[in-house]
Formats: sequence, structure tokens, C-alpha cells
Amino acid sequence: MSEITNYKYYVGGKFIQSTSGNLIEIICPYDQSIIGRVQAISKEEADVAIAATKAAQKDWADTDLFKRADLLNKWADQLEIDAEEIAQMIMREVGKTWNDAVKEVTRTAEFIRYTVQEFIHTNDAAMSGANYPGGSKNKFAIIKRIPLGTVLAISPFNYPVNLSVAKLAPALIAGNAVVFKPATQGAISAVKLIESFDKVGFPADILQLITGKGSDIGDYVSEHDGIDMISFTGGATTGRHLSSFSTMKPMVLELGGKDPAIVCEDADIDKTVAEIMSGAFSYSGQRCTAIKRVLVHATVADELSEKLKTAVEKLSVGMPIDNPIIVPLINEGAADYVQGLITDTIAAGAELLVGNKREDNLIYPTLFDHVTTDMRLAWEEPFGPVLPIIRVASDAEAIEIANASEYGLQASVFSQNFSRAVAIAEKIEAGSVQINGRTERGPDHFPFLGVKNSGMGVHGISRTIESMTREKLLIINV
Ligand code: G3H
Repeated sequence: MSEITNYKYYVGGKFIQSTSGNLIEIICPYDQSIIGRVQAISKEEADVAIAATKAAQKDWADTDLFKRADLLNKWADQLEIDAEEIAQMIMREVGKTWNDAVKEVTRTAEFIRYTVQEFIHTNDAAMSGANYPGGSKNKFAIIKRIPLGTVLAISPFNYPVNLSVAKLAPALIAGNAVVFKPATQGAISAVKLIESFDKVGFPADILQLITGKGSDIGDYVSEHDGIDMISFTGGATTGRHLSSFSTMKPMVLELGGKDPAIVCEDADIDKTVAEIMSGAFSYSGQRCTAIKRVLVHATVADELSEKLKTAVEKLSVGMPIDNPIIVPLINEGAADYVQGLITDTIAAGAELLVGNKREDNLIYPTLFDHVTTDMRLAWEEPFGPVLPIIRVASDAEAIEIANASEYGLQASVFSQNFSRAVAIAEKIEAGSVQINGRTERGPDHFPFLGVKNSGMGVHGISRTIESMTREKLLIINV
């Protein structure tokens, strides 16, 4: 039997062991083997990591932009070199298929390169006092953007590399230091990510990787005076809790969703089915942007549900290495929750079209028709492969149900009448509405945001840079 590795955390440009002696075992979601252990660092060690960023950040911000850019571009190149090794860990640790795991790493390299270019091409702005009534034509303001200081980046399990770098790269190119706290399941992938970072030759202490249970050090570091900004992606409950620490501290939160697909009677049903299938079931629905409910006009509901049923029956199910669509969920608790929702929906009287089958953490794709708004599945986010069809009588009813959710991340509208689709989209309370396409975050330079319990602030390359910098005015009096 091969030995189990104890992965170290990363501070001062070195991988080190915690003196706490506490380790957290990381279990593979699909074969239940122990993948490795990560350090559960102490609060004192978090203090040291945060304190060390302070001097390092000032030097980093003073470093020539093209030197910073060069290091980040080298990291992107290194990620491509290390892609298979990192993807191997993503697959083992979060149960993502091999193809998706590799894609996650290459998408991340592209993300870094675009981020560098975006920042290089963002110039300072200028204003003249003459443009305000009674203002002085002798006053000129140069409006610079300067880094905030030390950014706390907290990333989720489902994109342990991409959603981490979506915070790290904008923070670093803008001259911030980063304290990076990945989700515990996903923390070894984060170690792998930082191993590739370490090979490039960045200065010490501008990026610290700290690991440990959120319940032990999460609040501590979030409240910490040494943290100047928090960027979090994860569940709505944790996000809400974190928002209580946002007093005088900027924060961007990207949380859950219950993204609706609204299907009008004039939709291209075959295209709609293809988009819904990919939107709802990729990575077993473990995406904040997954389609999590279908609101279909009653006149086309039979046709849509029949076609969706056929498509769900054909979905490949299996282990990540074989690249199926449906893979085991992240852990037993997640599978229990999704199974509970399925059982509850059957008891509530919805029509089960396919599914309701479970093997350990593997939940087979499940489709319900005739789900009504008094059922939990109409409102709760499963983060699993279960999709409810809710029949509606009008666009107005679809909009009303879409907006009654506590969430507002994205939505899709399917109609061949563009004006009608736009009219619906304009009434939907969500960060983005996709017309005739599945809900998704990319391309990664688009602004990405949620309203209500889906988030606060905006992600997406240029917007993330904005959120991690502030304006500073230099006013010239001539
Ligand atoms: O889980 C939340 C992610 O931001 C979703 O990203 O739409 O690229 O899968 P995606």
C-alpha cells in the first residue's frame, strides 16, 4: 500500500508543516480512499502568515508591472506544463471527470494571461476641474487605481483551481498580497496549484496558502485586521455569515443559485433540451450556475418533458476517469441531502420521470414533472443531478415563480421570438439572463454576479480587478 502524503501549507515561499500537529484527512468522493492529509493550522500560524504579507505586499506593488506580468505569465505556462498532474488531483479530490479536470487547468492558464493583459491595458483616468460648474480650470485630477493590501481569497470545492485563480491572479497583478484559504475538500488541488506557482520564482510572502477547517480558522481570518478585502465563492449560508464581517472591509461574494430555464411555447425544443441537459447535469449539477428548475409553458410541457426524459435516460453515469456526465457527489452528506429532496418530492406527489436511484455518493440523474410551488424542490438548491419541471400558464407566471426564489444568479429564456425573450429577460431578477443558451459563468471576462442570496459585488476579470483596487486621486493645482 502506498504511503499517504501529508501535504504542507505555504508561507514565506516555503511549504511547511503546522506545529499544531493536526491534520485533516481528505477522502476521495468516489472510492472513499484517503487521498492525503492537509495541515489544520493554528490561529497563531494564520497570524504569522497574514503579518508577513504586509511588507511583501508593499514591495510587490512597487515592482515594475511588467515584472509582475512576466511572473504571472510564467505561472500560466507552468500550469500548462503541470496540467496533467494537477488534473489528476482535481479528479481524485473533487470527483470531476478527467476531461473536465484538464480543461479546468487550461482554462485557468488562459484566465491568467487575459488578466495580465486586462490590467496592462487599464490606464489611469484624468478629470479637469473646469468640467464642474464653478470648478477650477486650474485643477486636474489623475485617478489611479491602487491595490487594497492583503486579499483573503476563499474558494469552493467544485473548481478548486479555476475559481481560486479567478481571485489570485487579479489580486496579484494589481499589486495585492493574498492569503488563500481553499475549501478543505479541494485543498490538495490547491497545494498542487501553489506548487506550480512556487516553481516560477515569485517573491516570498505575497501569496500564503493556509489550510484548515473553515469552522476553526475561517471566522478568525475573515475578521482579522490584517485582511483588507475578502473574495469568497461558496454556499449561501457561509456567504451570509461572512457578510457580517464586511464592516468597513470590502467583500465580494459569489454564492448559490436556483437558476430557472424558462421555456416558451415558441422555443426550438430540440435546442432547448440540449441546453437544459448540459446546463443541469454537467458535473452532476455541482455548479452554482447549473439549471436547477424548468418553468415551461403548459402547451409544450408534454413534448419537453418527454424529450428531457429520453435525454436523461441516455446520460452516462460512472466514475470520473471514464468521463461520464454523472459522477458521484462530493461526499455522503451531499448525496444524503439530494436523496432527501428526491424522497420528499415523491412524497409530495410530483411525477418521477427518471431516477431515484443511489449507490453510495452516486445519485443517478433524476427528473420530475408536475412539481408545484409548495414542494421543497421548487426552491431549494440541490447541487446534485435532480431537475424539477414546473408547468406555467403564461410568461407572467414564469417570471413570478422565477423571481420568488431567494436566489438570483442566472436564468435562461428559450423562445424563437427575440423580442419576447428580451421582455422576459428584462423582468428576471438575476445577475445575467441567457437567451437561448444554458446558464454558465464563462467566457471568464464577462461580469459575473448574483443578486439576493446569490451574491454581492461582481466577479469577472476586469470587475475582480476593480473590486481588489481602489481609486486614489492625485490632484494637480497649476
Ligand atoms: O459553481 C460556480 C461556478 O462559478 C460555475 O462556473 O458556469 O463555469 O460552471 P461555470
